[in-house]
Amino acid sequence: MSEATETTAARAGGCPFPHGAAAAAGGCPVSANAAAFDPFSDGYQQDPPEYVRWAREQEPVFYSPQLGYWVVTRYDDIKAIFRDNLTFSPSIALEKITPTGPEANAVLASYGYAMNRTLVNEDEPAHMPRRRVLMEPFTPEHLKHHEPMVRRLTREYVDRFIDTGRADLVDQMLWEVPLTVALHFLGVPEEDMDLMRQYSIAHTVNTWGRPRPEEQVAVAHAVGNFWQFAGKVLEKMRQNPDGPGWMQYGIRKQKEYPEIVTDSYLHSMMMAGIVAAHETTANATANAMKLLLQHPHAWRELCEDPSLIPNAVEECLRHNGSVAAWRRLATKDTQVGGIDIPAGAKLLIVTSSANHDERHFADADCFDIRRENSSDHVTFGYGSHQCMGKNLARMEMQIFLEAFTRRLPHMRLAEQSFSYVPNTSFRGPEHLWVEWDPAQNPERRQATLPERQGAVRIGEPSTHALARPVIVERVSTAANGIVRLRLVAPEGASLPRWAPGAHIDVECGDTGLSRQYSLCGDPADTLAFEIAVLRETESRGGSEWIHDAVREGMRLRIRGPRNHFRLDEEGRRAIFVAGGIGITPVSAMARRAKELGIDYALHYSGRSRATMAFIDELAQLHGERLHLHVSDEGTRHDFGTLVVDAHTRVYACGPARLLDALTACSEAWPDDALRVEHFAASASQLDPANEHAFEVELKDSGLVLNVAAGQSVLDALRRANIDVQSDCEEGLCGSCEVRVLAGEIDHRDVVLTRAERETHTRMMTCCSRAKGRRVILEL
Ligand code: FES
Repeated sequence: MSEATETTAARAGGCPFPHGAAAAAGGCPVSANAAAFDPFSDGYQQDPPEYVRWAREQEPVFYSPQLGYWVVTRYDDIKAIFRDNLTFSPSIALEKITPTGPEANAVLASYGYAMNRTLVNEDEPAHMPRRRVLMEPFTPEHLKHHEPMVRRLTREYVDRFIDTGRADLVDQMLWEVPLTVALHFLGVPEEDMDLMRQYSIAHTVNTWGRPRPEEQVAVAHAVGNFWQFAGKVLEKMRQNPDGPGWMQYGIRKQKEYPEIVTDSYLHSMMMAGIVAAHETTANATANAMKLLLQHPHAWRELCEDPSLIPNAVEECLRHNGSVAAWRRLATKDTQVGGIDIPAGAKLLIVTSSANHDERHFADADCFDIRRENSSDHVTFGYGSHQCMGKNLARMEMQIFLEAFTRRLPHMRLAEQSFSYVPNTSFRGPEHLWVEWDPAQNPERRQATLPERQGAVRIGEPSTHALARPVIVERVSTAANGIVRLRLVAPEGASLPRWAPGAHIDVECGDTGLSRQYSLCGDPADTLAFEIAVLRETESRGGSEWIHDAVREGMRLRIRGPRNHFRLDEEGRRAIFVAGGIGITPVSAMARRAKELGIDYALHYSGRSRATMAFIDELAQLHGERLHLHVSDEGTRHDFGTLVVDAHTRVYACGPARLLDALTACSEAWPDDALRVEHFAASASQLDPANEHAFEVELKDSGLVLNVAAGQSVLDALRRANIDVQSDCEEGLCGSCEVRVLAGEIDHRDVVLTRAERETHTRMMTCCSRAKGRRVILEL
C-alpha cells in the first residue's frame, strides 16, 4: 500500500498500520488478542469488562480489524475522550448496527421520515445551546413530581404477579414500566400511549437490532408510522402547551428560542427520548436485579436497610450497567493513552471496562453496595453529553428496588441461562425469571406494608447514609474511664480494609446521637474493628451511652471507615504527638510507620499513667521511640524541643489545648509539616449577608452556573444535574474535591494543607467558595 492509499484506508476504517515491505519485516502490529476481538461474540455479550480484561491490563488502546474501530478500555482515557467532544465527535453514537437496504429506505422516505441528530449524537456548536435550554425538567427538583406516578405504576405491575410465585421480570414489568414512565415524562396524552408503546419497539429494532433483509421493510413501515404518529401527538401537545411534560416544556421554549428549538428537533427528540428513556432503564434494572439476586448477602442487606438502595443502584450501574460502550469519531489526528489515532478513526469506548478499571476502583470486580466511589462510573457517560435522564433512571431503579425488597424479599433467581440481543452498546438479559413462595409474601401477614424511608434519593447518592451492622464481640477496660470495643461483622464476614488514621461513626442506639471514633486495632485484621472510648461527662452523652449501654453480643450500626488523617507512607521522618484519648489514631499510625521502616518518634501525654490507654502495648512495640509525658510525674511535653526539618511530618491528635500549642509552634516549621486529626469543621454556617454570589464555569460540561450568596457550590452543581460525590458536607473528608482550572479559591475546609491551598488547583465544593466573581472547574 502506498502511504496515500494507507491514509485513505485508515480514514475509511481499514487497517491503519503500514503493511509495506519494510513494516512486513516486523509483522502487522495488531496483536493476536486485538485481531480476535469480536464484540458480537458470546464472550463480549455475556461480560464485556471481563472480555477485555487483557486489554485493560496490557494493551488499553488497540485497533480491532474485525470491527474497524479503535477500542479504548481504561477509565482515564475514556474520561479524557468524553471531556473533549470536539476532537472526539459523538456523531456516530447512534449509527445503525445494520444499515437499511434501498427498499426499506424508500419505505421510510414515503412516510416523510426525517429523524435528525438529537442530544446524544449532535456536535457543537448546535448541541450545548439546546441542552442548556431543555435541561431544567431533568434536574432533581423538577423530577420530584414524577415520583408518585412511578410508585403507582410499580405497585400496579407488582400487584399483577405477586401471588403467582414466578415471573419474568423483563416481560412482565421492566420492559413496560420505564416506557410508560418515559411517555408520562414527555407529556404524551394517556389515550395515545398504547400506540406509542407499540411503535417505539419497532424503532429499537431499527436502530440496534439486526433485522433480516425481509424483516427490514416491515420494520421500516412501523418506524414510518411511529414518525408520523409522533408528529400528530406533537401537534396535539401544541394545542395544550401548558402541560407538565418535557415536550410541552420544549414547545414553550421554542417560542423563546425558535432557532435553537426547531420543529424537526422536537419531532426527533420525542422519538429518541422514548427509546433512550425506556430501553436503558429497563435493561439497567434487569441487570441490577440479576446481580443482587446473585449476591444474596447484599440482597438481604437491602431488604433490611432500604437506605442502602441509592448506593446499591450506583454499584449495579458500575458493575453491570446497561450501556457497555459508546462510540466516537476522531475529527483530527490525535492520541489516546499515548497511541496515535488518525483523523476519521472510529472509537469504541468500552465504558463497562472503565468501570472495572483497578486504577480507579479498588478491588474493581468485587460487588460492594457500600463502595464509596460507585457513582464515579461512566455508564451515563461524562461531560457535555452525559445522559440527561440519569436522575430519572436512578429514581425509577430505586423505586423498583424499594418495592421488590419490601414486597418480595424472599425472591430468588430461577434456573435459567441468560441471552442478550447482540450489539456493542446496550445490554440486559432478554428474560429474567424469578420465583418465590407466595405463602411467604409479607403482605399476607400485614396487608399494607408502608413504603420505606430513605430508599429514594433523587440525584447522586451521598455516602453519608451508608450504615453497616456490627456485633460487639468484646468489651474491655483500656484505662481508667476508657472502654475498648472489638466489633465484628455478622456471620463472620470480613470488614472493609482501612488505613491508619481512619475512624468510624457509631450510632448510639435510639439516642439519635452518632459519634466518631478512630480505629486503633491492627489494619491487617480484616475481621474486626477496634475502638477505645473515653467517658466524657461534659459532652452530649454519646460516650456515656457507649460506657453504660453497650454489652458483648449487642448489635450496633456504624458508618465508615473514613480517613481524613492519612500517614504519608513515602515520608522519611514522622513525629507522632498524642494527648489522652488522641492516642487511638496515632497508635495505628505509629505501628504502620514501624512496619514501613520510617524514622519516627511517638510522644504520648496524659494526666496519669492510670488514665493512659495502651501504655504497655506501646512500650513493647516501640521501645525507645515511645516518649511518655505524664503530668502527675512532672514530665510535661515541651513542643519547642521537637526538631522538624523539611523531611519531617508531625501528626497530632488530642485535646484542643494541645493542638493549639502545637499549631503555634508549627509557625516556625516548614510548610505543611503539621497534620492534625479534625473531628469538627472549622467552617461556620453560610451567612448570605457576609458572602458574595459568583459564577462557576464547568469546562467539561459546557455550563456556567450562578452560585448564590447563601448557596454552596455543591448545591449549585447538584441542581444543575452535575454529579459530585459528597460525604461529610462540612469540609472534613475531601470527597467533594474538584480540580480548579482558573480563579482563586477562598478555602474553608480542613483537608488541604497550607501549600495545597496556595496553588488554587483544588477545592472542596461543599464549603469553599470563589474569592472573586468567577472560577473555572474541571467538571
Ligand atoms: Fe466532605 Fe466536602 S463532602 S469535604
